[in-house]
Amino acid sequence: MTAATRRHYLMCEPTHYTVSYEINPWMDATRFTDSELAVRQWRVLRDTYLELGHTVELIDPVPGLPDMVYAANGATVVDGVVYSARFRYPERAAEGPAYQKWFADGGYVTHTAAETNEGEGDLLTVGDLILAGTGFRTARSSHAEAQELFGLPVVSLELVDPHYYHLDTALAVLSSDPAHPQVAYYPPAFSPGSRRVLERLYPDAVIATERDAVALGLNAVSDGHHVVVAPGAVDLAQALRERGYEPIAVDTSELLKGGGGAKCCTLEIRGSVA
Ligand code: ARG
Repeated sequence: MTAATRRHYLMCEPTHYTVSYEINPWMDATRFTDSELAVRQWRVLRDTYLELGHTVELIDPVPGLPDMVYAANGATVVDGVVYSARFRYPERAAEGPAYQKWFADGGYVTHTAAETNEGEGDLLTVGDLILAGTGFRTARSSHAEAQELFGLPVVSLELVDPHYYHLDTALAVLSSDPAHPQVAYYPPAFSPGSRRVLERLYPDAVIATERDAVALGLNAVSDGHHVVVAPGAVDLAQALRERGYEPIAVDTSELLKGGGGAKCCTLEIRGSVA
């Protein structure tokens, strides 16, 4: 556990949220989705961040882009430098330029990605390095592109279970303090070699159970002390308490129908406009 630090987040209200296509195993386009409930749950998440003292900025939702609520996929921002997203599936392709425009309009230096990557869904900054998922969405070639852009070492991790198609569904960054980096993860979501990499880098990591993983409990947002986590991730919450973290349960069940939780709805802006 480390001290909480103030964070700067970008979020997108799920005004146009629905499940109209299926690009991950959680999505069922025949099931009813309640966008009003999604908005209410999302507002509780936003208000939780505000109560914790974080800054939340908003991007306007675009009609016809129901997954735009999953802001984490919109870009990766390190030291005020924006690496744009380039989505794997055509259904989400227009989100990349929409998020990039928001940053450019705000005066950020943005870099248009040449390689397929789904933003912070797969590129997670932990201390002085970036853990980068591949296997389902983000291309391995984008890991090298991100490393060159940010000048941070990028460690590639292979995801093997389609339910955990983005790295942020299988691994949560608990502390990004370079002196005490810490993560929680669900080992079966990773290839054997990637598991060994994680064991080597984080011998003291919090290991999530299957119950935590199926609740998308790893899709958690930590400020170094408070960890916003799905209510179903009871084992994870207990493990976090034992380590001195303060879990805060926020129910985003309606957004889980699209395959996302708290972290998916939250893009962290690191550093300010250069
Ligand atoms: N329906 C979205 C997709 O499949 C969910 C994205 C969740 N985002 C995340 N950061 N894991 O692309």
